[in-house]
Amino acid sequence: MTAYHPPKIASSEITPRGMYLRRREFLGAAAVAALALSGTDAMAAPLAAAKSSYTVDEPLTPIKDVTTYNNFYEFGLDKGDPAALSGKFKPLPWTIKVDGMVGKPGTFDIEALIKEFPPEERVYRMRCVEAWSMVIPWDGFPLAALLDKVEPLGSAKYVAFETVVRPDQMPGQNGFFQSLNWPYVEGLRLDEARHPLTLLAVGLYGETMPNQNGAPVRLVVPWKYGFKGIKSIVRITLTEDQPKNTWQLTNPQEYGFYANVNPAVDHPRWSQATERRIGEGGFFGANRRPTLPFNGYADQVASLYAGMDLRANF
Ligand code: MTE
Repeated sequence: MTAYHPPKIASSEITPRGMYLRRREFLGAAAVAALALSGTDAMAAPLAAAKSSYTVDEPLTPIKDVTTYNNFYEFGLDKGDPAALSGKFKPLPWTIKVDGMVGKPGTFDIEALIKEFPPEERVYRMRCVEAWSMVIPWDGFPLAALLDKVEPLGSAKYVAFETVVRPDQMPGQNGFFQSLNWPYVEGLRLDEARHPLTLLAVGLYGETMPNQNGAPVRLVVPWKYGFKGIKSIVRITLTEDQPKNTWQLTNPQEYGFYANVNPAVDHPRWSQATERRIGEGGFFGANRRPTLPFNGYADQVASLYAGMDLRANF
Protein backbone atom coordinates (compact mmCIF):
# COMPACT_ATOMS: atom_id res chain seq x y z
CA MET A 1 0.00 0.00 0.00
CA THR A 2 1.08 3.62 0.07
CA ALA A 3 4.17 4.06 2.20
CA TYR A 4 3.81 6.53 5.06
CA HIS A 5 6.27 7.73 7.67
CA PRO A 6 7.93 4.76 9.31
CA PRO A 7 7.05 4.41 12.98
CA LYS A 8 9.91 4.53 15.45
CA ILE A 9 10.36 1.20 17.15
CA ALA A 10 12.66 0.50 20.07
CA SER A 11 15.43 -1.80 18.87
CA SER A 12 14.84 -3.97 21.96
CA GLU A 13 11.44 -4.90 20.53
CA ILE A 14 12.76 -6.18 17.25
CA THR A 15 13.39 -9.89 16.76
CA PRO A 16 15.96 -10.16 14.00
CA ARG A 17 14.05 -11.42 10.99
CA GLY A 18 16.60 -14.08 10.05
CA MET A 19 16.53 -15.52 13.54
CA TYR A 20 12.75 -15.67 13.54
CA LEU A 21 12.66 -17.52 10.22
CA ARG A 22 15.29 -20.04 11.33
CA ARG A 23 13.38 -20.65 14.54
CA ARG A 24 10.24 -21.44 12.54
CA GLU A 25 12.03 -23.81 10.21
CA PHE A 26 13.28 -25.95 13.08
CA LEU A 27 10.01 -26.05 14.98
CA GLY A 28 7.83 -29.13 14.76
CA ALA A 29 4.10 -28.90 15.42
CA ALA A 30 4.54 -30.03 19.03
CA ALA A 31 7.15 -27.38 19.70
CA VAL A 32 4.93 -24.75 18.15
CA ALA A 33 2.05 -25.78 20.44
CA ALA A 34 4.31 -25.75 23.49
CA LEU A 35 5.59 -22.29 22.61
CA ALA A 36 2.02 -21.09 22.27
CA LEU A 37 1.17 -22.36 25.73
CA SER A 38 4.15 -20.51 27.13
CA GLY A 39 2.81 -17.38 25.48
CA THR A 40 5.93 -16.66 23.47
CA ASP A 41 4.67 -17.47 20.00
CA ALA A 42 1.56 -16.74 18.02
CA MET A 43 0.91 -20.31 16.89
CA ALA A 44 -1.30 -22.28 19.27
CA ALA A 45 -3.27 -25.49 19.54
CA PRO A 46 -4.51 -27.30 16.43
CA LEU A 47 -8.10 -26.58 15.40
CA ALA A 48 -10.21 -29.57 14.45
CA ALA A 49 -11.75 -28.25 11.26
CA ALA A 50 -13.95 -30.13 8.79
CA LYS A 51 -13.21 -29.57 5.09
CA SER A 52 -15.60 -27.32 3.23
CA SER A 53 -16.86 -27.38 -0.32
CA TYR A 54 -15.86 -23.70 -0.60
CA THR A 55 -12.36 -24.69 -1.59
CA VAL A 56 -10.25 -23.90 -4.65
CA ASP A 57 -8.11 -26.62 -6.16
CA GLU A 58 -4.80 -24.76 -6.49
CA PRO A 59 -1.42 -25.31 -4.81
CA LEU A 60 -1.36 -23.82 -1.31
CA THR A 61 0.96 -20.91 -0.58
CA PRO A 62 3.62 -22.23 1.85
CA ILE A 63 2.79 -21.42 5.48
CA LYS A 64 6.15 -19.68 5.81
CA ASP A 65 5.06 -17.10 3.23
CA VAL A 66 1.53 -16.80 4.64
CA THR A 67 2.96 -15.99 8.09
CA THR A 68 5.95 -13.83 7.19
CA TYR A 69 4.72 -11.72 4.25
CA ASN A 70 1.96 -9.68 5.85
CA ASN A 71 0.21 -6.33 5.88
CA PHE A 72 -0.74 -5.40 9.44
CA TYR A 73 0.20 -1.78 9.97
CA GLU A 74 -0.48 -1.97 13.71
CA PHE A 75 2.82 -3.87 13.83
CA GLY A 76 4.77 -1.83 11.28
CA LEU A 77 4.96 -1.06 7.58
CA ASP A 78 7.30 -3.73 6.25
CA LYS A 79 6.02 -7.15 5.17
CA GLY A 80 8.22 -8.83 7.82
CA ASP A 81 7.21 -6.52 10.69
CA PRO A 82 3.97 -8.29 11.74
CA ALA A 83 5.79 -11.63 12.18
CA ALA A 84 8.77 -10.03 13.90
CA LEU A 85 6.96 -7.52 16.12
CA SER A 86 3.69 -9.19 17.19
CA GLY A 87 5.14 -11.47 19.89
CA LYS A 88 3.83 -9.33 22.76
CA PHE A 89 0.26 -9.34 21.46
CA LYS A 90 -2.15 -11.31 23.68
CA PRO A 91 -5.09 -12.58 21.60
CA LEU A 92 -6.92 -14.30 24.48
CA PRO A 93 -9.20 -13.71 26.27
CA TRP A 94 -11.08 -11.82 23.54
CA THR A 95 -14.58 -10.48 23.02
CA ILE A 96 -16.37 -8.95 20.03
CA LYS A 97 -19.03 -6.34 20.69
CA VAL A 98 -21.89 -6.46 18.17
CA ASP A 99 -24.18 -3.43 18.25
CA GLY A 100 -26.01 -0.84 16.15
CA MET A 101 -29.21 -1.66 14.29
CA VAL A 102 -29.84 -5.08 15.77
CA GLY A 103 -32.57 -6.56 17.92
CA LYS A 104 -30.19 -8.35 20.28
CA PRO A 105 -26.88 -6.53 20.70
CA GLY A 106 -24.27 -8.40 22.67
CA THR A 107 -20.65 -9.03 23.56
CA PHE A 108 -19.41 -12.43 22.49
CA ASP A 109 -16.44 -14.40 23.78
CA ILE A 110 -14.46 -15.75 20.81
CA GLU A 111 -13.72 -19.10 22.45
CA ALA A 112 -17.45 -19.60 23.10
CA LEU A 113 -18.23 -18.67 19.48
CA ILE A 114 -15.71 -21.24 18.24
CA LYS A 115 -17.46 -23.89 20.37
CA GLU A 116 -20.86 -22.84 19.06
CA PHE A 117 -19.75 -22.64 15.41
CA PRO A 118 -17.00 -25.25 14.90
CA PRO A 119 -14.57 -23.87 12.30
CA GLU A 120 -14.36 -25.45 8.88
CA GLU A 121 -11.41 -25.35 6.51
CA ARG A 122 -11.77 -23.33 3.33
CA VAL A 123 -9.00 -22.92 0.81
CA TYR A 124 -9.47 -19.43 -0.64
CA ARG A 125 -7.65 -17.58 -3.38
CA MET A 126 -6.59 -14.21 -1.88
CA ARG A 127 -5.72 -11.14 -3.98
CA CYS A 128 -3.99 -8.12 -2.47
CA VAL A 129 -4.55 -4.67 -3.99
CA GLU A 130 -0.74 -4.57 -4.39
CA ALA A 131 -1.10 -7.16 -7.22
CA TRP A 132 0.17 -10.25 -5.45
CA SER A 133 -1.87 -13.27 -4.44
CA MET A 134 -1.82 -16.33 -2.20
CA VAL A 135 -3.90 -19.49 -1.74
CA ILE A 136 -4.63 -19.93 1.97
CA PRO A 137 -6.38 -22.72 3.90
CA TRP A 138 -8.42 -20.68 6.41
CA ASP A 139 -10.31 -22.13 9.35
CA GLY A 140 -13.43 -20.23 10.34
CA PHE A 141 -17.19 -19.89 10.43
CA PRO A 142 -19.54 -17.76 8.32
CA LEU A 143 -19.98 -14.18 9.51
CA ALA A 144 -23.70 -14.77 8.85
CA ALA A 145 -23.81 -17.15 11.84
CA LEU A 146 -22.85 -14.32 14.21
CA LEU A 147 -25.10 -11.79 12.45
CA ASP A 148 -28.08 -14.14 12.82
CA LYS A 149 -27.52 -14.25 16.58
CA VAL A 150 -27.97 -10.49 16.95
CA GLU A 151 -31.03 -10.25 14.67
CA PRO A 152 -30.32 -7.31 12.32
CA LEU A 153 -33.22 -4.85 12.02
CA GLY A 154 -34.88 -4.22 8.66
CA SER A 155 -33.27 -0.76 8.58
CA ALA A 156 -29.71 -2.20 8.80
CA LYS A 157 -27.99 -1.96 5.40
CA TYR A 158 -24.26 -2.14 6.19
CA VAL A 159 -21.83 -3.71 8.62
CA ALA A 160 -18.88 -1.77 10.07
CA PHE A 161 -15.83 -3.46 11.64
CA GLU A 162 -13.15 -2.22 14.02
CA THR A 163 -9.70 -3.56 14.99
CA VAL A 164 -8.41 -3.45 18.56
CA VAL A 165 -6.28 -0.48 19.72
CA ARG A 166 -3.42 -1.57 22.00
CA PRO A 167 -0.39 0.67 21.56
CA ASP A 168 1.39 -1.21 24.36
CA GLN A 169 1.23 -4.45 22.36
CA MET A 170 1.16 -3.06 18.82
CA PRO A 171 4.33 -1.09 18.08
CA GLY A 172 2.89 0.41 14.88
CA GLN A 173 0.28 2.19 17.00
CA ASN A 174 2.75 3.97 19.26
CA GLY A 175 5.28 5.19 16.74
CA PHE A 176 6.45 8.76 16.85
CA PHE A 177 5.03 9.17 13.33
CA GLN A 178 1.45 8.11 12.74
CA SER A 179 1.13 5.68 9.78
CA LEU A 180 -2.68 5.32 9.74
CA ASN A 181 -5.43 6.55 12.04
CA TRP A 182 -6.49 3.93 14.59
CA PRO A 183 -8.59 1.95 14.95
CA TYR A 184 -8.32 0.30 11.52
CA VAL A 185 -11.90 0.16 10.20
CA GLU A 186 -13.73 -1.67 7.40
CA GLY A 187 -17.22 -2.07 6.03
CA LEU A 188 -19.41 -4.37 3.95
CA ARG A 189 -22.93 -4.15 2.60
CA LEU A 190 -25.18 -6.41 4.71
CA ASP A 191 -25.80 -8.81 1.80
CA GLU A 192 -22.02 -9.10 1.24
CA ALA A 193 -21.54 -9.71 4.96
CA ARG A 194 -24.21 -12.42 4.93
CA HIS A 195 -22.84 -14.14 1.81
CA PRO A 196 -21.80 -17.74 2.57
CA LEU A 197 -18.25 -17.09 1.29
CA THR A 198 -17.70 -14.36 3.91
CA LEU A 199 -15.77 -15.88 6.77
CA LEU A 200 -14.76 -14.96 10.28
CA ALA A 201 -11.43 -16.78 10.29
CA VAL A 202 -9.95 -18.03 13.55
CA GLY A 203 -7.09 -20.08 12.14
CA LEU A 204 -5.07 -21.11 9.10
CA TYR A 205 -3.36 -24.32 8.11
CA GLY A 206 -5.30 -26.03 10.93
CA GLU A 207 -3.78 -23.96 13.72
CA THR A 208 -5.20 -21.05 15.70
CA MET A 209 -4.67 -17.72 13.97
CA PRO A 210 -1.09 -16.44 14.20
CA ASN A 211 -0.87 -12.92 15.64
CA GLN A 212 0.51 -11.54 12.38
CA ASN A 213 -2.50 -12.81 10.40
CA GLY A 214 -5.07 -11.18 12.70
CA ALA A 215 -5.45 -13.24 15.89
CA PRO A 216 -7.77 -14.28 17.26
CA VAL A 217 -10.42 -13.42 14.66
CA ARG A 218 -10.35 -11.60 11.31
CA LEU A 219 -12.53 -11.14 8.27
CA VAL A 220 -11.91 -12.99 4.99
CA VAL A 221 -13.81 -11.87 1.86
CA PRO A 222 -12.15 -13.72 -1.03
CA TRP A 223 -13.68 -11.78 -3.95
CA LYS A 224 -12.41 -8.44 -2.62
CA TYR A 225 -8.92 -6.97 -2.32
CA GLY A 226 -7.11 -8.17 0.79
CA PHE A 227 -7.39 -4.88 2.68
CA LYS A 228 -11.07 -5.67 3.29
CA GLY A 229 -9.89 -8.55 5.50
CA ILE A 230 -9.76 -6.55 8.74
CA LYS A 231 -7.75 -8.24 11.49
CA SER A 232 -8.13 -8.64 15.27
CA ILE A 233 -11.79 -7.50 15.27
CA VAL A 234 -13.26 -6.15 18.52
CA ARG A 235 -16.43 -4.49 17.29
CA ILE A 236 -19.07 -5.07 14.60
CA THR A 237 -21.76 -2.40 14.14
CA LEU A 238 -24.83 -2.67 11.90
CA THR A 239 -25.60 0.68 10.26
CA GLU A 240 -28.01 2.36 7.89
CA ASP A 241 -25.31 4.47 6.19
CA GLN A 242 -22.33 3.19 4.24
CA PRO A 243 -19.32 3.04 6.60
CA LYS A 244 -15.89 4.19 5.41
CA ASN A 245 -12.80 1.97 5.48
CA THR A 246 -9.31 2.96 6.58
CA TRP A 247 -7.78 3.07 3.08
CA GLN A 248 -10.68 5.08 1.69
CA LEU A 249 -10.32 7.54 4.58
CA THR A 250 -6.57 7.73 3.97
CA ASN A 251 -6.68 8.08 0.18
CA PRO A 252 -10.19 8.29 -1.33
CA GLN A 253 -8.85 8.79 -4.88
CA GLU A 254 -7.22 5.35 -4.80
CA TYR A 255 -9.44 3.23 -2.56
CA GLY A 256 -13.22 2.90 -2.54
CA PHE A 257 -15.85 1.15 -0.47
CA TYR A 258 -16.39 -1.92 -2.66
CA ALA A 259 -12.83 -2.99 -3.51
CA ASN A 260 -14.05 -5.95 -5.56
CA VAL A 261 -11.19 -7.63 -7.41
CA ASN A 262 -11.50 -6.30 -10.96
CA PRO A 263 -8.79 -6.78 -13.60
CA ALA A 264 -10.57 -4.24 -15.85
CA VAL A 265 -10.19 -1.33 -13.42
CA ASP A 266 -6.59 -0.35 -12.72
CA HIS A 267 -5.38 1.20 -9.52
CA PRO A 268 -4.43 4.83 -10.36
CA ARG A 269 -0.74 3.92 -9.98
CA TRP A 270 -0.54 0.35 -11.31
CA SER A 271 -2.35 -2.29 -13.37
CA GLN A 272 -4.66 -4.80 -11.73
CA ALA A 273 -4.73 -7.05 -14.84
CA THR A 274 -2.20 -9.58 -13.54
CA GLU A 275 -0.84 -10.75 -10.20
CA ARG A 276 2.27 -12.35 -8.74
CA ARG A 277 1.60 -15.59 -6.86
CA ILE A 278 3.67 -15.46 -3.66
CA GLY A 279 5.78 -18.53 -2.94
CA GLU A 280 5.94 -19.76 -6.53
CA GLY A 281 9.29 -19.51 -8.20
CA GLY A 282 9.47 -18.19 -11.71
CA PHE A 283 11.94 -16.40 -13.89
CA PHE A 284 11.11 -13.26 -15.82
CA GLY A 285 7.58 -12.99 -14.53
CA ALA A 286 6.69 -16.65 -15.10
CA ASN A 287 4.75 -16.60 -11.85
CA ARG A 288 2.50 -13.77 -13.02
CA ARG A 289 -1.00 -14.86 -13.87
CA PRO A 290 -4.09 -13.03 -15.09
CA THR A 291 -6.32 -11.67 -12.35
CA LEU A 292 -9.86 -13.01 -12.53
CA PRO A 293 -13.04 -10.92 -12.16
CA PHE A 294 -14.17 -11.10 -8.54
CA ASN A 295 -10.96 -13.08 -7.97
CA GLY A 296 -12.51 -16.16 -9.62
CA TYR A 297 -15.66 -16.07 -7.46
CA ALA A 298 -17.88 -14.39 -10.08
CA ASP A 299 -20.30 -17.33 -10.29
CA GLN A 300 -21.05 -16.95 -6.58
CA VAL A 301 -21.04 -13.16 -6.16
CA ALA A 302 -21.49 -11.27 -9.45
CA SER A 303 -25.28 -11.21 -8.92
CA LEU A 304 -24.77 -9.06 -5.81
CA TYR A 305 -23.69 -6.23 -8.13
CA ALA A 306 -26.16 -6.66 -11.01
CA GLY A 307 -26.78 -3.33 -12.71
CA MET A 308 -24.04 -1.49 -10.80
CA ASP A 309 -21.31 0.50 -12.54
CA LEU A 310 -18.23 -1.28 -11.16
CA ARG A 311 -15.92 1.44 -12.44
CA ALA A 312 -17.73 4.13 -10.44
CA ASN A 313 -18.19 1.78 -7.46
CA PHE A 314 -14.54 0.68 -7.15
N1 MTE B 1 -6.21 -5.26 9.27
C1 MTE B 1 -5.66 -4.39 10.13
N2 MTE B 1 -6.21 -4.23 11.33
N3 MTE B 1 -4.54 -3.67 9.81
C2 MTE B 1 -3.96 -3.77 8.57
O1 MTE B 1 -2.95 -3.08 8.32
N4 MTE B 1 -4.00 -4.83 6.36
C3 MTE B 1 -4.92 -5.35 5.34
C4 MTE B 1 -5.71 -6.57 5.84
N5 MTE B 1 -6.20 -6.35 7.19
C5 MTE B 1 -4.52 -4.68 7.63
C6 MTE B 1 -5.65 -5.43 8.04
C7 MTE B 1 -4.24 -5.69 4.09
S1 MTE B 1 -3.68 -4.38 3.16
C8 MTE B 1 -4.10 -7.00 3.65
S2 MTE B 1 -3.47 -7.34 2.10
C9 MTE B 1 -4.46 -8.14 4.52
O2 MTE B 1 -4.87 -7.72 5.81
C10 MTE B 1 -3.29 -9.08 4.65
O3 MTE B 1 -3.64 -10.22 5.40
P1 MTE B 1 -2.52 -11.35 5.64
O4 MTE B 1 -1.33 -10.67 6.22
O5 MTE B 1 -3.12 -12.35 6.58
O6 MTE B 1 -2.22 -11.95 4.29
